[in-house]
Amino acid sequence: MNNNFTLAPRVFIETYGCQMNVNDSEVVLSILGKAGYAVCDSAQDASLILINTCAIRDNAEQRILGRLDHYRLQKKSRPGLIVGVLGCMAERLKEQLLAHPAVDLVAGPDAYRDLPRLIAALSATGEKQINTLLSHEETYGDISPLRLDPNGVSAYISIMRGCNNVCSYCVVPYTRGAERSRDFESILREGREAIAAGYKELILLGQNVDSYRFGEVDFARLMAMVAELDPTVRVRFSTSHPKDIKDELLHTMAAYPNICRHIHLPVQSGSNAVLERMRRRHTREWYLERVARIREIMPDCSITTDVIAGFCGETEADFEDTLELFRQVKFDAAFMFQYSERPGTLAARHYSDDVPPEVKTERLSRIIALQNELSAESNRRDVGKCFEVLVEGFSKRSDADLMGRTSQNKACVFPAAGHHKGEYVTVRVLDSTPATLLCEVVE
Ligand code: 5AD
Ligand code: SF4
Repeated sequence: MNNNFTLAPRVFIETYGCQMNVNDSEVVLSILGKAGYAVCDSAQDASLILINTCAIRDNAEQRILGRLDHYRLQKKSRPGLIVGVLGCMAERLKEQLLAHPAVDLVAGPDAYRDLPRLIAALSATGEKQINTLLSHEETYGDISPLRLDPNGVSAYISIMRGCNNVCSYCVVPYTRGAERSRDFESILREGREAIAAGYKELILLGQNVDSYRFGEVDFARLMAMVAELDPTVRVRFSTSHPKDIKDELLHTMAAYPNICRHIHLPVQSGSNAVLERMRRRHTREWYLERVARIREIMPDCSITTDVIAGFCGETEADFEDTLELFRQVKFDAAFMFQYSERPGTLAARHYSDDVPPEVKTERLSRIIALQNELSAESNRRDVGKCFEVLVEGFSKRSDADLMGRTSQNKACVFPAAGHHKGEYVTVRVLDSTPATLLCEVVE
């Protein structure tokens, strides 16, 4: 074949960590698309491979180091292949990562606009390139993300970046910098674009959405504006902070049927002594009051949480307080972690990581067992009820069944029978497992 044209360079991006990182990857692809890159969906076909990383726990970083080792070997047989590391681990490790034999370039979360220049400089000089400057202003507000799943149902929209809390265990304020809110006009524009492209659900993302503010517009006002874009499009958000979640937001949620009845409200611990050392700036009692208020204003709202087992100085009694809080709140679901010390954080500097690893593991398995029970109970309470679900695609087990989510974010599985992705279907719950509601379609 005679190729008289130059093929566009091809980029592949691998994403780890949170939903916000998925959206960041979409922003990166949009920036590189404008710079002439074509996106490809296999690392094998790419001339540029980017790894968007997470630094939240040591095991996240170990996994990524494993990937880098894989690419180090790949590079031996693929001359010219460029490997770049982005995101939180890039920001945390900086030059240390650049020194890795697989790595050609390193860019932190606020440096993505600089990627085309970094790549050009690398090609021109053959020298590794790095930019890990954090910004007080960058929100990528004007960039329309290039959706990783263009036929998808849900579109992520970042409404703010960074974090101003200093939870003592957490690396995020160091890797993502200071909190800044994005111009609400650009959020609304992105929402309209996603709706025009056929998305049925908008998921607003921020480390602490309750502290969103742009001029006169706070988070409750923003939610109302986004909900009003299209009453047939669902709106979700994550993550709320118990110290900042306001009644006004709860009333806004209650007022708009298309705002989903689900709040992800990380508690981290049920012990006041541990919460104090975590610098969470809320107590157990405050948390329980917020939960009571959510249920008073929206009795059908689901509540999910994050929890850390084995934080510095956590006693058996502290941990039992956490179990007791779980029993009291009856969370619908939870993400549960063992404490992993992160270098440079307040906890790493001030407290000893003194809960032995086997105790952390044992406590984690106890809370997982308890939450399994609570999730099973929560799902059993739904048996017999009807829900409107938004279909996300086929169920994991079979193409004869579809999976859709309730407003409460519970996964429902039901016979496909003529229904399809992106459609709203009313289902009745016949049976349940801890993870799924087994349903029939109500015609
Ligand atoms: N160790 C374990 N879990 C952590 N998280 C954050 N930092 C750590 C850490 N150092 C958990 C918190 C947070 C979630 C995203 O990750 O529960 O809410
Ligand atoms: Fe997301 Fe936190 Fe991981 Fe960064 S460290 S990717 S903000 S989960």
